[in-house]
Amino acid sequence: MAATNYTSNNNKEKIIKRLDWIRQDFTLTPAIFKAIVEGFKQECDQGLNTASASGLATMIPSYVTRLPTGHETGIYLALDLGGSTLRVCAVQLLGQGQVNVTEVRRSITDQLRTSSTIVFFDWIADTVAELYALLPNQHVARDNDASPPPQLAMGVSWSFPLDQTGISKGTILRMGKGFTVTDGIDGQDLATFFLEAFQRKNIPVVVTAIVNDTIGALVAHAYSNPQARVGFIYGTGVNAAYPEKVSRIIKLNVAEWQDTATEMLVNTEIDIFGNESYLPLTRFDRALDASHAQPGFQPYEKMMSGAYLGELVRLVAVDLVNDRELFDGHVPYLLAQPWSFLTAHMSEIEGYSSDDHQLVVSRVTELLQFADNYTPTEADIDVFLDICVMVSTRAAGLAAAALVAIIEQQSFKPDQDIVVGVNGTTFEMYPGMPQRIHRALEQWFGESIAKRIKLEVARDGGSIGAALVAMLYQEG
Ligand code: BGC
Repeated sequence: MAATNYTSNNNKEKIIKRLDWIRQDFTLTPAIFKAIVEGFKQECDQGLNTASASGLATMIPSYVTRLPTGHETGIYLALDLGGSTLRVCAVQLLGQGQVNVTEVRRSITDQLRTSSTIVFFDWIADTVAELYALLPNQHVARDNDASPPPQLAMGVSWSFPLDQTGISKGTILRMGKGFTVTDGIDGQDLATFFLEAFQRKNIPVVVTAIVNDTIGALVAHAYSNPQARVGFIYGTGVNAAYPEKVSRIIKLNVAEWQDTATEMLVNTEIDIFGNESYLPLTRFDRALDASHAQPGFQPYEKMMSGAYLGELVRLVAVDLVNDRELFDGHVPYLLAQPWSFLTAHMSEIEGYSSDDHQLVVSRVTELLQFADNYTPTEADIDVFLDICVMVSTRAAGLAAAALVAIIEQQSFKPDQDIVVGVNGTTFEMYPGMPQRIHRALEQWFGESIAKRIKLEVARDGGSIGAALVAMLYQEG
């Protein structure tokens, strides 16, 4: 559809200037990038040294001290609870890094996210029962200590902060991603919720391993590429895990661990990192935080993960519309309500960009939906596209800053590949995201080191990783 509205050159110049002004706040200059990396590294050290505080914790020891070799075989159960989906799987390890997954997948509704713990864990148990009914039981690895009826071992991947106290134990910390379970879930033991729900439903399954999804991604990726040294989740939420030297994990009882392991995988919970001293928060980030159910929580994640990018774009665009600088003051339907414009919409819009420009303009116009036969100008649509690119490019830079900090926590031989197993829709689906992150890494490390950094997709990381950890720690 051709643009029909008249926009004076004056107005066009004004909005371009205004956007340039906003863009300055969204730009990660080398100095700002460096400050973020240093801030992250400092928080890593602090987290390793500080015992978990109630409610929030970072640099959480996973109790996983070895990675798979890729040769392991067998069938193990796994449960992967993410922000929007529950997956319950039987993972068949075929050796040579190959797997076969049978799964039951359910969407998590808002009603479940805000239900009681009993309703929520019973729903999980019902889903496990569905998978159980599909299993030829004799094929599934059994728990060593099982007394009749034989219990099946299950690994759980938990995409939320958990203060882990053992391989299959941990205290639930504050959950994000819209979870506000009514009877208070914080501070309770996660394994007990599974145990009681499986007992209520008579399901002979026992949780033998619990991992954060980043640990799952790293372990799963190590199964297909044993060089993997970072697990990175970049989807609805963000987080990273890596193997840390036991001697540096001061919060652990180092003396107790030093004889048994040199490294332990650490869940950084980098999503929680960040404060105003080094995160370049714009007034839009602040507005988003203020409108959120958990203000002040996960400042870094709120600037860059899939749960938030759409809302950031909406806030910038609506600001310009309200000043009658964009869309001649018309708020399109898709931007009218808070949280109504999603990262998936941005992703779709940036995906159009390679098409013929007129087509892009008409598709974006159609997607945004204007009332009263209003048709925005091509220049206005270009500004809207620029806002999407501005927000997603900063997100890529912020993702790269986390990776720099985690890579620099470790030492690599000069010829060693630096392999990152990445999982998550923002990384996997957002147009050009892996390339933008890699470019930011190259700006920091220079070409020759950047060439060694491989951002590889660790598909199904949570479930495969949880199954692998259940296997690694069942066999001793
Ligand atoms: C959670 C992390 C999780 C990450 C990625 C964050 O919101 O706090 O525990 O690893 O999302 O799913």
